[in-house]
Amino acid sequence: MEKIGFIGVGKVGTAFGTRLAEGGFPVRGAMDIVPKESRRFADSVSGCKVYATAQSLADSMDFVFITTPDDVIGQVAAQVRWHAGQTVIHCSGANSTAVLEPARKSGCHVGCMHPCNTFASIQQSLENLMGSTFTLEAEEPVLSDLKKFVAALNGRWMMLHGEDKALYHASICIACNYLYTLMGIATDLWKNFDISQSDAVAACMPILTGTLNNIEKVGFPGCLTGPIARGDVGTIRKHIAALEKAEPALVPLYKALGLATIPMGLAKGTLPTDKAAELREMLSA
Ligand SMILES: NC(=O)c1ccc[n+]([C@@H]2O[C@H](COP(=O)([O-])OP(=O)(O)OC[C@H]3O[C@@H](n4cnc5c(N)ncnc54)[C@H](OP(=O)(O)O)[C@@H]3O)[C@@H](O)[C@H]2O)c1
Repeated sequence: MEKIGFIGVGKVGTAFGTRLAEGGFPVRGAMDIVPKESRRFADSVSGCKVYATAQSLADSMDFVFITTPDDVIGQVAAQVRWHAGQTVIHCSGANSTAVLEPARKSGCHVGCMHPCNTFASIQQSLENLMGSTFTLEAEEPVLSDLKKFVAALNGRWMMLHGEDKALYHASICIACNYLYTLMGIATDLWKNFDISQSDAVAACMPILTGTLNNIEKVGFPGCLTGPIARGDVGTIRKHIAALEKAEPALVPLYKALGLATIPMGLAKGTLPTDKAAELREMLSA
């Protein structure tokens, strides 16, 4: 493979660039709208040069990753004058390769390689990228290159059609981002009994990791525990009463999540149908 460059070297660009260089790929160019970020990246990747503009980087590279924020990918793809035969990639989960259409029209090969993982800081991105699952949207010859990247990153790959990206990304958003939301809400409730959120987080870590282990090792629906799995209608009634007193704004969310949990309890076989009906009525009220 010939020269690889990155436009946008934040969390994902840095993780890809660094790990691919370590895997022996020729990462030779970095450009970021924040010059000190380009410098940081180039200083950490042997043989990598800083480019002042996206155009100058694209003029010198054969394989270009656009790892800017999602909303900027299309602008970069449209602004750069590409040359035929180049390959242009992005790593967005929500966008298809359609956003790279200007590059494709200029005779470039295009593709998308989304790491199905979460990257909250540069250091943590470097740690998390290896071993990820990557969803790929590409045709040959790009597909073979992306599979080589996945192998170097010790990952797994799956193919995804462009038209499925938005739904796929909505799923990732629920699984990852809204888990933060749920844990933020859950641990914030502890202030009502004078325990700080940080102490609540520490206290909840074993139950959280246990829950994730159950999802992985027991699977759905057998992993479900708690009052809905058991059909404990009285306990759910107590939860609602307590929330109405302490944090009434949370009651609709609590009820919606409870309703969404009933089918899992039924599928597990531990929630009797009459209790499910009682719960459904209480949670729909
Ligand atoms: N973070 C995740 O968990 C995650 C997971 C999977 C996939 N992704 C995807 O990875 C891609 C990059 O995300 P990220 O989290 O790495 O974002 P990020 O950390 O914000 O990095 C993006 C970098 O691009 C820079 N930039 C903005 N506009 C630019 C332009 N016109 N030209 C050059 N550089 C520009 C940004 O500068 P400013 O900070 O000044 O804007 C920033 O330094 C996105 O497509 C995202 O969907 C992210």
